[in-house]
Amino acid sequence: MKRIAVFASGNGSNAENLINYFRENDLADVSLVLTDNPKAKVISRAEKLFVPHVVITPQELSNGSVLERLKKNKIDFVVLAGFLRMVPKNIVEAFKDRIINIHPALLPSYGGKGMYGINVHKAVVDAGENETGITIHYVNENYDDGDIIFQTTTDVYPDDTPEDVAEKVHALEKQYLPQITEELLEEL
Ligand code: GAR
Repeated sequence: MKRIAVFASGNGSNAENLINYFRENDLADVSLVLTDNPKAKVISRAEKLFVPHVVITPQELSNGSVLERLKKNKIDFVVLAGFLRMVPKNIVEAFKDRIINIHPALLPSYGGKGMYGINVHKAVVDAGENETGITIHYVNENYDDGDIIFQTTTDVYPDDTPEDVAEKVHALEKQYLPQITEELLEEL
């Protein structure tokens, strides 16, 4: 059984979806949820589902103690699901090809610092795009920059609000993030 850690900074709906998906699956389970935000809703989601969770500080992220915790918990694979901070080099290197991020747009467009959640969908609507989508990619030391593993699209209509776009993108995330994670775990 492979052990997955999920990092999330906010709502945590993707984290919850991953937890539930892998509960039904013998390949892996979500063994640890990490958040940098003590007020994040992901904490109550993890509690409700009895998944160990921990609040981490920026210092712990950069000074090696988060990496130690991942090792101590025998984590095989890391998913960033709405995690706002840059992951430091020590974690990226230790989890080479075993750490992925989900981004709510079609990278390389609408990525980079500050491009998070609804900000991304506002930018897509403001630019008059007629499609957007999701990107699942490996994590490297730069925001939204690692090799792309998977992308899929959804239409954006002229009268769509950023919230409408968010809903369509979330539906794609729910459908594909667990599935792609599973495929990658099968190759480990
Ligand atoms: C998701 O849409 C995810 O793609 C996005 O944050 C949202 C988190 O939702 N990530 C980024 O924008 C990363 N740049 P959730 O907390 O409900 O899973």
